[in-house]
Amino acid sequence: MATLVLGGHAVLFYFLYSSLGAVVQRSHETLFVEKVRTFSRLMADQLEVGGVLESPKATTDLLDTVILNADGVYAELSGPTVNLRSDLNRPLLNFRFEQDFSFGQHGDDIYFISMPVVRGDVTLQLRLGFDERPTNATIASARQRMFWTLSAYLGLSALAALFVGMAIARPVRRLQGAARAIADGAYSQGLQLRTPVRELHTLALDLDRMRSELVGANERLRAEIHEKDQLELRRAGLERQLQHRERIETVGTLAGGIAHEFNNILVPIILLSELVLKRLPPTSESRQDVSSVLEAARRARDLVKQILAFSHDISGLVTEPVDLREAVNEAMKLFRPLILPNCQLVIRAVPQCPPVQASRSLVVQLVVNLCKNAYQSLAGAPGTVTVNIRDVQLDDAASGGVPAGRYVELTVSDTGAGMDPATIARIFEPFYTTRSVGEGTGLGLSVVHGIAESFGARILVTSERGMGSTFRVLFPTAC
Ligand SMILES: Nc1ncnc2c1ncn2[C@@H]1O[C@H](COP(=O)(O)OP(=O)(O)OP(=O)(O)O)[C@@H](O)[C@H]1O
Ligand SMILES: [Mg+2]
Repeated sequence: MATLVLGGHAVLFYFLYSSLGAVVQRSHETLFVEKVRTFSRLMADQLEVGGVLESPKATTDLLDTVILNADGVYAELSGPTVNLRSDLNRPLLNFRFEQDFSFGQHGDDIYFISMPVVRGDVTLQLRLGFDERPTNATIASARQRMFWTLSAYLGLSALAALFVGMAIARPVRRLQGAARAIADGAYSQGLQLRTPVRELHTLALDLDRMRSELVGANERLRAEIHEKDQLELRRAGLERQLQHRERIETVGTLAGGIAHEFNNILVPIILLSELVLKRLPPTSESRQDVSSVLEAARRARDLVKQILAFSHDISGLVTEPVDLREAVNEAMKLFRPLILPNCQLVIRAVPQCPPVQASRSLVVQLVVNLCKNAYQSLAGAPGTVTVNIRDVQLDDAASGGVPAGRYVELTVSDTGAGMDPATIARIFEPFYTTRSVGEGTGLGLSVVHGIAESFGARILVTSERGMGSTFRVLFPTAC
């Protein structure tokens, strides 16, 4: 662009200078020639009429006026009887005058004119030479002034053109960059363009509006996709939960049915064993055997009770408003003696916590079972078991598909071994255990599940191998 402007101005300068120079030259030369002709004609008229020619002195004086008043260098009048010259003539080298009012040139500086003067029957020749140098000097100075004026004008206009070109080119380049960035999908950054060119300013505003609209549309699209993903995730999560609950329900019904039958079988065994034991004399050898039968039957009854608890078949369930803090304190009385000093037990509870509709003794059992598992996950290594109570308000988007509402949340978390997803999927199944034979029956969490369900509470588990586990039990508030 700059090269184009400069090149254009150079060509313009050349044409303007040469054409204006020619005009100046021609007009000055024309003036000079006019002046010379008029002056010469006046001289000739003076000589043809009047009495100047009568006196040689007057003629010579007239010829002198050419030198003195009209930038002349030579003046001569010659004929058959007269041959007069000005005394002020400059010496001329080998110059020959042409005939009849014609011009001649001596070197570059002097123009000559030769014209006839008719006086009666006699024709004389008037020859005059005029100095052209003042005219040439005027032409040269006019050309020089023209040169500088043109140079200044064209230089300034070239600078102005360059400045304007740059003032347009820079914002245009920025607009171009912004348009490309938008096309490449990078439209997070706003376009702030300051330019005195109104059209470019408007274009920049339009481009920026388009960019903002794209950002908005993109965000809306992203939000829609995110919402869809979330819905999909929730749907899949709910489906999984439903399947899991159905499985647990089925297992629960089965286990509950078997437990019922077993209970019916165990009742006469326990009652009759107790009766036989009462009847046997203290010295009887059979006492030991009957005691063993009774003990085994009682253990079986406890087990059956737990299975019945899991299958919600909690006999004589009476609920009342329970303060979870008090239930936790009671559970700690049972749990604290079981743990080693390297296990830190942390209990946290908000001061004002609404009561929950439940059975206090069953809540104590639930807390003890969860704390026992948490402690066992430490496997004797130093660690922390934390019990936390707080009230929470869950909205519709609450995790784990728990219905919206107000809950009292009991959390038992540990810094123990954690679980992989496959284990988490089965922990509430009765008799599912990862402990070695004799160490666990796999009924602890089944009972926790049964107790929670019978009070309308929900359990959420988060755990990761090596990162500990957290069991959240959400009790609906009693009021
Ligand atoms: N806090 C926990 N950290 C790691 N694993 C756990 C935790 N709680 C439960 N589990 C896993 O879930 C399984 C089932 O637990 P559950 O309490 O039902 O049975 P158990 O503890 O094995 O036996 P029981 O409680 O009858 O003595 C456990 O064997 C263990 O693998
Ligand atoms: Mg357990």
